[in-house]
Amino acid sequence: MSIVIKTPDEIEKMRLACRLAGEVLDYITPFVKPGVATETLDRLCHDYMTQVQGCVPATLHYAPSGNTPYPKSICTSVNHQICHGIPGEKQLRNGDILNIDVTTIKNGYHGDTSRMFQVGDVSIQARRLCDVTFECMWKGIERVRPGATLGDIGHAIQRHAESAGFSVVREFCGHGVGARFHEEPQVVHFGRPGTGVALRPNMIFTIEPMINAGKAAIRILADGWTAVTKDHSLSAQWEHTVLVTETGYEVLTVSGGMRPPPEWVRP
Ligand code: MF3
Ligand code: CO
Ligand code: CO
Repeated sequence: MSIVIKTPDEIEKMRLACRLAGEVLDYITPFVKPGVATETLDRLCHDYMTQVQGCVPATLHYAPSGNTPYPKSICTSVNHQICHGIPGEKQLRNGDILNIDVTTIKNGYHGDTSRMFQVGDVSIQARRLCDVTFECMWKGIERVRPGATLGDIGHAIQRHAESAGFSVVREFCGHGVGARFHEEPQVVHFGRPGTGVALRPNMIFTIEPMINAGKAAIRILADGWTAVTKDHSLSAQWEHTVLVTETGYEVLTVSGGMRPPPEWVRP
């Protein structure tokens, strides 16, 4: 399968699916507190998506080849978990950081976004990791325009992460998204400027850097899904779905409660 250039009608459908995904994160935010089990967050998001938004949660029973079906409607990745953490009975504790990743399907189109949450009072180190990772995502988004390459995006992210003393996870990447959850191209979060696929108007893909406080190496838990840092250092991730426009980019996963871009991002 090759890169899909979206039609105006598809772009309109993606705007809706993506906004709804962002609104799930807005909805769940006040529930993210010490003592709440991640499976409670999953049930709340599941019910909101299916009963309020009329969406299908894309991750529920998602089974890319070689994987067991993913059992839940969101991903919750706590502390040294990098991504694809499976919600369960474990309760959040003061000082935890976690990523919540939501993918909606609305009218056949996918909206994919994730944010970091800080539970109670978190360490200065954890807060800095979350902030730098957020900046990394925006360093990548800022590069998006026709003629730029995927290597430009990856390089901007890698440089920002590594100059803060952090490392970039290599095994997972951003991806084209639309009628399918994971489409071409693969959007890796490291690389060299001017290399890789050139961006064209009406491509839609995610940018979702996973940044570790320690080394980049990962391990997959026995559940077959949860990725963790091998050295048990903290990990953070933020994700937006982005459209390439004629002149630059449009972030599609926008919602009232989203974190605004860093002040150095041009309007
Ligand atoms: N939402 C994740 C992404 O950004 C994918 C989750 S797949 C799952 O690509 F099966 F783990 F849920
Ligand atoms: Co994604
Ligand atoms: Co996602």
